[in-house]
Amino acid sequence: MPCQSQARNGLFRRGAIRFRTCPMKINGIPYRSIRLDEADGWSIRILDQTRLPWQVEWLRLTDEDQVAHAIRSMQVRGAPLIGAVAAYGMALAMRRDPAALEPVAAMLGETRPTAINLRWALEKMLAVLRPVPAAVREAAAYAEAAAICDDDAATCEAIGRHGLPLLQDIAARKPGQRVNILTHCNAGWIATVDWGTALAPIYMAHDAGIPVHVWVDETRPRNQGAALTAWELGAHGVPHTVIADNAGGHLMQHGEVDIVIVGTDRVTRRGDVANKIGTYLKALAAQDNGVPFWVALPHSTLDMRVADGVRDIPIEERAAEEVTDITGQDAEGRITRIRVAAAGSPAANPAFDVTPARLVTGLITERGRVAASEAALAALYPEKIAR
Ligand code: MRU
Repeated sequence: MPCQSQARNGLFRRGAIRFRTCPMKINGIPYRSIRLDEADGWSIRILDQTRLPWQVEWLRLTDEDQVAHAIRSMQVRGAPLIGAVAAYGMALAMRRDPAALEPVAAMLGETRPTAINLRWALEKMLAVLRPVPAAVREAAAYAEAAAICDDDAATCEAIGRHGLPLLQDIAARKPGQRVNILTHCNAGWIATVDWGTALAPIYMAHDAGIPVHVWVDETRPRNQGAALTAWELGAHGVPHTVIADNAGGHLMQHGEVDIVIVGTDRVTRRGDVANKIGTYLKALAAQDNGVPFWVALPHSTLDMRVADGVRDIPIEERAAEEVTDITGQDAEGRITRIRVAAAGSPAANPAFDVTPARLVTGLITERGRVAASEAALAALYPEKIAR
């Protein structure tokens, strides 16, 4: 069955369908974005996000090199999911060679630089596997990867519960009218193991009968909004409208946005937020228009080692072709790439930006909503300062 708790019991436990933490459906069937292959019980299946929204294709990954490729090429993407898939990459490597622990972790850690969840997951795997004898490393790795996935699903569900009151409050202030949320990139269930971060409160509000409507930034250059967020929301029946990235400010000026909720790839200890390129501009527009700007994150996205995000968060520079070219489906149903930029013009492609804490209304975490400040984060995650 596609929706499985990854918790392993001995070798592994299959078919434990838990709808509470597995609510996301494709054609009525509940799924998680990563699962063990039902047939062999050891390889992993991921939804190939480079094929969405045109094709739903579950790729089978059998070794750490395929996992690294999937992360780099963005077949899997979204900060929490990258971490979860990398954890399984370690498990796949341990099947082959339990001694390869450190080099495999280093190799996977280099696949993408900005999302801290990748490092978080790999450090967790290393901490569990280093003290374990080689003979049992494989079993321990699968167990820990499964725990990371289950933790992410439960964490995102809790983020949804803590974000929901924000939407309930807006709905109460404008009875009978739709609640307009603007989001950037994709921070939904396919960016995590389940539920999503920014989209979790939206799914819960929709399921609770609140008339939500989502403005979906297309999110150039890779169009995670137009392709992925719109696909997810559509599959769940959530009303939404795709907009050009530059439309948000105009909509805010005209009272068409009640709240902005975005996900994040890294939050520093003082509350600076790295997220998909263009997020910062949305935060500036939100502040100028008095629109609350909220950021949803799991504990695994918090990087207490960094204070100044603008200065110290590494920003991934991706291929220029992602800017000069665009991928879509033609009238015959073929997935095609075409060039949109003038021939010969060079392009730059910084994939993330950092929104300073002063522009963030608050953070939605699995432990509750807090200010984007060092004091608030330290109080909420005391165990993270001790490190
Ligand atoms: O480059 P991507 O698509 O991996 O970037 C993803 C984002 O920026 C998301 O907003 C972020 O990872 C949060 S996912 C819950």
